[in-house]
Amino acid sequence: MSDSLEPETLAIHTGIHRSQFNEHSEAMYLTSSFVFDSAAQAAARFSGEEPGNIYARFTNPTVTAFEERLAALEEAETCIATSTGMSAILASVMGLLSAGDHIVASRSLFGATVNLFNNILKRFDIETTFVSATDVSAWEAAVRPNTKLFFLETPSNPLTEISDISELSKVAKKVGAWLAVDNCFCTPILQQPLKLGADLVIHSATKYLDGQGRVLGGAVLGKRELLMDGGIYTFLRTAGPTLSAFNAWVILKGLETLKIRIDAHSNHAMQMALWLEQQPNVERVYYPGLPSHPQYDLAKSQQKNGGGIVTFEVKGGKDAAWRVIDETRLISITANLGDTKSTLTHPASTTHSRISQEARDDAGVTDGLLRIAVGLEAVKDLQADLSRGLA
Ligand SMILES: Cc1ncc(COP(=O)(O)O)c(C=O)c1O
Repeated sequence: MSDSLEPETLAIHTGIHRSQFNEHSEAMYLTSSFVFDSAAQAAARFSGEEPGNIYARFTNPTVTAFEERLAALEEAETCIATSTGMSAILASVMGLLSAGDHIVASRSLFGATVNLFNNILKRFDIETTFVSATDVSAWEAAVRPNTKLFFLETPSNPLTEISDISELSKVAKKVGAWLAVDNCFCTPILQQPLKLGADLVIHSATKYLDGQGRVLGGAVLGKRELLMDGGIYTFLRTAGPTLSAFNAWVILKGLETLKIRIDAHSNHAMQMALWLEQQPNVERVYYPGLPSHPQYDLAKSQQKNGGGIVTFEVKGGKDAAWRVIDETRLISITANLGDTKSTLTHPASTTHSRISQEARDDAGVTDGLLRIAVGLEAVKDLQADLSRGLA
């Protein structure tokens, strides 16, 4: 596919390999294994002498189509699809790191990522130091001789803090570490971390890439050398957190509308953020598209738009926050995000409840904080839905 095509075109036309039936919409290959013409061909496929599918834990044509399409959007050499966003993070760490290695990570990360680093990886002698997402010098100061990986989300979940990808990539390069960026909130439509110097991009495809809250999925993207020879693909193929063909097909079709959805999510979120700033019972609004956002200029230089996530702090702590949630009739009370349906979450008691109070305080996840993933409903209806609880 030509490099000169725009993202919305790439999202529709990349990764098409028609079968003998010449179907227009991409076929879904629901098969766990593939048949060989002969014993010699089976041996050649297993030895890698002949390219081709063997078994769906290794590759599947529908999964490959999704990988090619997402790689085109991120302008990545290679994409490896995984069963979930968490398994994309796990595969990256297990593929690249060994016992005794050290990670420097943003302290503003999705709760399960913090738990993976803090509780599970620690048992395998991989230690993590958590630092401020926004203070580049803190990352440099946390580096040890055994630091192998920098890991961040930008904008972060839930406070939408912006990390400077380009500056952090320079620090990572200087100290010989890889920089991995979870690009779940922006998607390649708004931000392409590899072009800013990151080595790996991670996705929870469960979110905006699917876009309609239907399936789980994930992906890791980067240079072929790092993903294929560096151990990530070997981990995936051996340990098995592979993306299913059905989920790959759903997300592949989701990508076709990604640009139009992200533009609309960003537009609706901006209107909601401006409106929330005017509400007397709202203490503070966090949205990268607002001039009041502490890293507004950095967000503007790094992202094409603000994205769909708005976080706000209500006056009155947890009781007030829960009241806003319980008074909604339209907005879904659920932990997912990136859906056409707006979702409202109280991070302190859900997504971030398993991390310690101290880590929550450090990350600014207060009891009055609410995160709305603004969907594609009419903004006026969403405002009316929040107004009851805020009143
Ligand atoms: C920023 C971010 N990264 C990773 C994940 C994990 O993705 P998954 O639920 O697909 O494993 C999530 C899930 O909410 C997330 O918000």
